[in-house]
Amino acid sequence: MSDKRILLIVGGGIAAYKCLDLVRRLRERCFAVRVVMTAGAQEFVTPLSFGAISGDRVFTDLFNLDDEREIGHIRLSRDCELIVVAPATADLMAKMAHGHADDLATAVLLATNKPVLIAPAMNPRMWLNPATKRNAAQLTADGIASIGPNSGEMAERGEAGPGRMAEPLEIAARIEQMLGAAAASPLSAKPDGSVALRDKSLAGRHVLVTAGPTHEPIDPVRYIANRSSGKQGFAIAAAAAKLGARVTLVSGPVGLADPPGVHVVRVEAAAEMLAQCEAALPADVGIFAAAVADWRVAEASEEKIKKGKGSAPTLSLVENPDILKTVARRGAKRPGLVVGFAAETENVLEHARSKRKSKGCDWIIANDVSPETGIMGGDRNTVHVITADGVESWPDMDKQAVAEKLVARIAEHVALGQADV
Ligand code: C5P
Repeated sequence: MSDKRILLIVGGGIAAYKCLDLVRRLRERCFAVRVVMTAGAQEFVTPLSFGAISGDRVFTDLFNLDDEREIGHIRLSRDCELIVVAPATADLMAKMAHGHADDLATAVLLATNKPVLIAPAMNPRMWLNPATKRNAAQLTADGIASIGPNSGEMAERGEAGPGRMAEPLEIAARIEQMLGAAAASPLSAKPDGSVALRDKSLAGRHVLVTAGPTHEPIDPVRYIANRSSGKQGFAIAAAAAKLGARVTLVSGPVGLADPPGVHVVRVEAAAEMLAQCEAALPADVGIFAAAVADWRVAEASEEKIKKGKGSAPTLSLVENPDILKTVARRGAKRPGLVVGFAAETENVLEHARSKRKSKGCDWIIANDVSPETGIMGGDRNTVHVITADGVESWPDMDKQAVAEKLVARIAEHVALGQADV
């Protein structure tokens, strides 16, 4: 057991509900968590819920005589290795920046001699307001650490921008980093916000990954193809293998070496890719990163088509099978978690959301592949993760970091038994 104790101060924002998950994550990592709630926080989540999850009393009142006699705000502020404020609302940040102490949370924060980490969460306009910017800068100058906010959709319909509280896993990783306790955890944060993998949490699981383009033959020497390099799919397969999974990577033609510990099945055309995916089932997780050609030539010529016959040949195209959709509808053989990709050049989120439904997959990883992004064939990627719960936008990262963060997220999901395997 870690003997590290964390005092979590929950502020009054909608993100307060995510802190129940944060407490759970911290307890999984063997931290003892004691919770203080502001009056605002109690409008969103009850102290009873935090009490049940933290396994400790929850503190809410500065002027509660029993609490003050037994523990007291000074002891609360000292009986821990780290204080975490999440969500840190604009109001709470303003109070901290100006040294207010008119409730238990702020009194504890003013009295403490321990390091403090805040996870701001608020409406984007509040975050971008010069007053909040001043307060955030003041808190940084006072030596207070901060994580987030992330960009993404807000609880308010149609609003998006910076203001979403960092995810519980990101906060947990940062806490571990601050307390030097990373070795206790399977996951830890890298400075760019990506996650390092270091355990075998996918041991005993079978992960199927597709990657690369497909080549659809026109004749024995010509084919229809696309610009996919296969780098993202190969990085995902490698990351899953590092976490101990048995990985089958079904790849179209690419110039990449087999990742260590991965069973690679090389194919050419979509029909072959589908057959090899079907043959690889059952799988616990299916990740479909291949850029499968949408069409193939109805009847590829068995001989090289000759020029100089007067007119150019007409190619008649037919639609290829949708591998993701087919596997996602495989009934009993469907992987517990099916992840698709959506490469779009416009209205990225909107198209990706509807694709998640139409393909029948659980998550969609969306990215903008307009030529100016340089993503297709390049080494970096900026993705949005779309699940039934909403959208999470990740910062620009190299493809390996995206793969590791995605696989870490999948491992967490599987560990929680959410992948129905
Ligand atoms: O329809 P679109 O190509 O945009 O869908 C992208 C997702 O569907 C990717 O996950 C891709 O691997 C998968 N896909 C597939 N088979 C197809 C077309 C797309 O598995 N024929």
